Amino acid sequence: MAGDGHTAYHMGTNTELADALLAIAPFGVACAVHATDREPEPLWAAELSATDRMSAKRLREFSAGRQCAREALARLGQAPVALPVGPGRAPLWPAGIIGSISHTAEIAVAVVARRAQVRSLGIDVESADPLAAELLALVCRDAERAALAVSGLEPGPGAKLLFSAKESLYKCLWPLTGVFLEFHDLGIRLDPVRCRFSACSEDPRIAGTLAMICGRYRRVGGLLLSCAWLDASGGEILTGTAASD
Ligand SMILES: CC(C)(COP(=O)(O)OP(=O)(O)OC[C@H]1O[C@@H](n2cnc3c(N)ncnc32)[C@H](O)[C@@H]1OP(=O)(O)O)[C@@H](O)C(=O)NCCC(=O)NCCS
Repeated sequence: MAGDGHTAYHMGTNTELADALLAIAPFGVACAVHATDREPEPLWAAELSATDRMSAKRLREFSAGRQCAREALARLGQAPVALPVGPGRAPLWPAGIIGSISHTAEIAVAVVARRAQVRSLGIDVESADPLAAELLALVCRDAERAALAVSGLEPGPGAKLLFSAKESLYKCLWPLTGVFLEFHDLGIRLDPVRCRFSACSEDPRIAGTLAMICGRYRRVGGLLLSCAWLDASGGEILTGTAASD
């Protein structure tokens, strides 16, 4: 199916995935999706120094992510630019732009927005399989596991959701705070009815910022997507789609 823009992965398509990303992202976001088995466009010179020790698989993921990001930037009306790897492995975005990249072995996704609308963004895409039992204690606080037990969500898929939410929150927080976080540094509150999440932390370096970050998630076929963001005014900007979900 390569080359048709509708590559099948699990039960979804790239178009469904892009629609779902836009539905969970705040207003003003542009996105792009690429299958990692498609030949990616060449990287830009300023991006190459990060690739020296990458395996062939990792290089494909990295390249597909950069290609997605440039396509998403084009949808915002931005000229293509190099997106070097910055501190903490976060991509360096052009002035006035914020974005986020995620990939699995099969697909890469990127979202971008103007900083005038969105101060920070984090996305994560995961297979929707249950979180491995041996990772439960590493990823989830006791209180989160207790909340899952009464939420109506299955423990394994629910824990995967907590994992994804923490990954997207980390990517959203890093550009704002530069703080490295462990999974237990974040306590997630899930709203399974509205497919939203928020988070708190006892760490004073991130607690205030974290309290203003919004999160949404969605399952598409065999994939789980999450998006965390801080809008430019510190509050929330809802999309038409998401406002009614
Ligand atoms: C960044 C991280 C959260 C996810 O990376 P991953 O497992 O490779 O998964 P994804 O494919 O979803 O995301 C990778 C992309 O995130 C982006 N990214 C990496 N570090 C980032 C950071 N500090 N801030 C924002 N974005 C970051 C990059 O674009 C990267 O892709 P690239 O290297 O090809 O450019 C993880 O690798 C990491 O750094 N973990 C340490 C912190 C953590 O996970 N704590 C527990 C959660 S609070």
